[in-house]
Amino acid sequence: MRRWLRWIFFNVKYFGRPPWDTGVSPPELLAFLREHPPGRALDVGCGTGVNLVTMLQAGWQVVGVDYALRAVWAARKRLSEAARLSEAAPARVIAGDVTNLGALTGPFDLVLDIGCYHGIPWADRPAYRRNLLRWLAPGGYFLLYAHLVDEMKPGGFGLAPEDARALEDILALRHRADSLDRWGRRAAWMTFQKQ
Ligand SMILES: C[S@@+](CC[C@H](N)C(=O)[O-])C[C@H]1O[C@@H](n2cnc3c(N)ncnc32)[C@H](O)[C@@H]1O
Repeated sequence: MRRWLRWIFFNVKYFGRPPWDTGVSPPELLAFLREHPPGRALDVGCGTGVNLVTMLQAGWQVVGVDYALRAVWAARKRLSEAARLSEAAPARVIAGDVTNLGALTGPFDLVLDIGCYHGIPWADRPAYRRNLLRWLAPGGYFLLYAHLVDEMKPGGFGLAPEDARALEDILALRHRADSLDRWGRRAAWMTFQKQ
């Protein structure tokens, strides 16, 4: 899908409640938060901010980025409410394209991507990976959830084997768990670490 069509797709989706916006953080993220001390986290394609609040409540300093404006507004509202209730560290949500965010520097101890990378247009993925490397602190983690490309549907979106290899060229793969999502699509959780 072309870049601007995808932008329209997400912006339109947030006029309703998109199916991925479950209001619940996945167990894989909760396990990561239990196993690692708090630091600075960046949620790439943060949607309405559910996982930002989860990380904030676990003691992390959080920054979110999304280019769907209604999602950004919802995330800001959710975060300011959570911060007011808990006196948590300051948090912010940036409206922007993750493949073109020169001003955001980091470093972050965790970059979280649940469902963003797999939809980035192929031509923009190298820029995403360059940003990722720049954002991560040495020793920092990249926690990724992505649908895998379906070889039966050429031209569809997803994480391709070349993507996984390109990520492994710049980061160490620590863990990978493949599964099927609730619609039967192949997906994977992957944990990378910057060395
Ligand atoms: C499948 S949704 C997942 C949202 C959120 N991570 C969650 O788990 O609810 C993917 C999100 O990535 C955002 N997104 C996709 N491409 C993006 C880009 N190039 N820059 C910024 N955000 C993007 C979309 O607007 C959408 O909110």
